[in-house]
Amino acid sequence: MKTVKTLFENNRRWAAKAVRRTPDFFTRLVHKQTPQFLWIGCADSRVPAEAIVGLLPGELFVHRNVANQVIHTDVNCLAVLQYAVDVLRVRHVIVCGHYACGGVKAALDHAAHGLIDNWLHPIRQMRERHRRELAGIADHAARVDRLCEINVREQVQHVAGTTIVRDAWSRGQALTVHGWIYGIQNGRLKDMKLSLASIAEAEAARAPRRR
Ligand code: CO
Repeated sequence: MKTVKTLFENNRRWAAKAVRRTPDFFTRLVHKQTPQFLWIGCADSRVPAEAIVGLLPGELFVHRNVANQVIHTDVNCLAVLQYAVDVLRVRHVIVCGHYACGGVKAALDHAAHGLIDNWLHPIRQMRERHRRELAGIADHAARVDRLCEINVREQVQHVAGTTIVRDAWSRGQALTVHGWIYGIQNGRLKDMKLSLASIAEAEAARAPRRR
């Protein structure tokens, strides 16, 4: 079992190695960060954002919460999005879900875990909206995975629907919102081909889903 001491030892080795490779690695980062990407992912320990996409400190702005949700009243998530888009001027917002997500599974199974159930409420509503499709999937793990995909699609729409992203598009800022999903079983990312880069694209993507 790893102890807290191990983490500090690891950190010393990691920092020393980074400086050996690039002597001004940290001193350069003190002055500014210029990430091109905002990552909105799940808090799950098996989905480490920078490691998955091979990016270094300074290259990825990150927001993570349970089940990678973008909720219009969540000031934390909105503040990250606003700062990333308006101040850092990231070019890409990536909503990255993952298969076998514990949050999505809990929402699907009506499991009770305390306060977190409130946070997962929007996913339970999503489950109800897609009840018929989900009921047609016999295998439980496959049903969880399908709801994980539906969740990514909905969160991409939520990002695209924020005043932050719409205002950026209105003023002609280059910004693409992506929907990806990660397989914790194989370490691979999949682009769900949900990318949106304008108000027109966001509205077109929304229209056919009304039923
Ligand atoms: Co998760």
